[in-house]
Amino acid sequence: MTLYGVGLGPGEAELVTVRGKRVLESADVVYSPGRLSRSVATEYVPAERIGDLDFPMTRDEEKLRRAWKEAAAEVAPRAREGEVAFVTLGDPNVYSTFGHLRRTMAAFHEDIDVEIVPGVSAVTAFATVLGVEIPSGSSLALREAAGGHSPTGPDRMVLFKITDAPATHEGLVEAGYEVTYGRRLYMEQGETVVTDDPEEIEDRDYYTLAYAEKPGAGEPQATAKFAAEEQSPTATTDGGQIEGGEVAELERSESLLCGDDPPEGGEWR
Ligand SMILES: C[S@@+](CC[C@H](N)C(=O)[O-])C[C@H]1O[C@@H](n2cnc3c(N)ncnc32)[C@H](O)[C@@H]1O
Repeated sequence: MTLYGVGLGPGEAELVTVRGKRVLESADVVYSPGRLSRSVATEYVPAERIGDLDFPMTRDEEKLRRAWKEAAAEVAPRAREGEVAFVTLGDPNVYSTFGHLRRTMAAFHEDIDVEIVPGVSAVTAFATVLGVEIPSGSSLALREAAGGHSPTGPDRMVLFKITDAPATHEGLVEAGYEVTYGRRLYMEQGETVVTDDPEEIEDRDYYTLAYAEKPGAGEPQATAKFAAEEQSPTATTDGGQIEGGEVAELERSESLLCGDDPPEGGEWR
């Protein structure tokens, strides 16, 4: 008697997690809220086990509540009989439609257990495609920037829902950010675009995000020293006891800051 919220990742079937795949393969029905999530789910689920749920494209809260109640009324009896899944692109707990279903189920069908299978979110996947590293010690904010909005915040931001890239760009550059845009990252449908030119993506496409960073953001990392050593003819990486010792100490504290487990036995060496 369980409803699983399954995150499918950004859009490529290979980025569905092993657990997500297992749940999709065993669920009696897999509900999808849209065409793109459906196309990923069908890689693991035969079409006859996929159920579509329709949601109106409206901001009218009354209509939306009605649609979610109807969706929950469709899902609940199937979940009482066995296991059902509801898929979302990315992660079900990050800016996702699954939140509406979970709240509606809690309000009207509280006997149904809800479990979430996390997915690879665009919030993290962007870093690989855009070639960005968020080093430890950084502050990173997630913001919405629909309608040409240019939110500001810490030195590094991920901006979702870019619908008017040129207008958003103008405000961000004025506030001192350098910006890179990513469209349809890891998506099998549509063209993936990575660019720092907002005119290249001026047409509206919902699956567009941006990464904004202020030049010089963040502290230099312990390992940045290796690059300097490589360039210096006198530096050594194995013989210099003091040098090596310093690097090892910095690396250790960085791992602790990130919450990495200590090695077995509990001692760092
Ligand atoms: C409602 S949010 C859904 C986020 C999703 N639940 C996640 O965890 O990635 C939709 C926004 O996420 C961003 N987004 C999601 N998937 C994307 C992708 N594959 N490529 C680029 N942007 C994406 C876009 O900015 C889009 O407007």
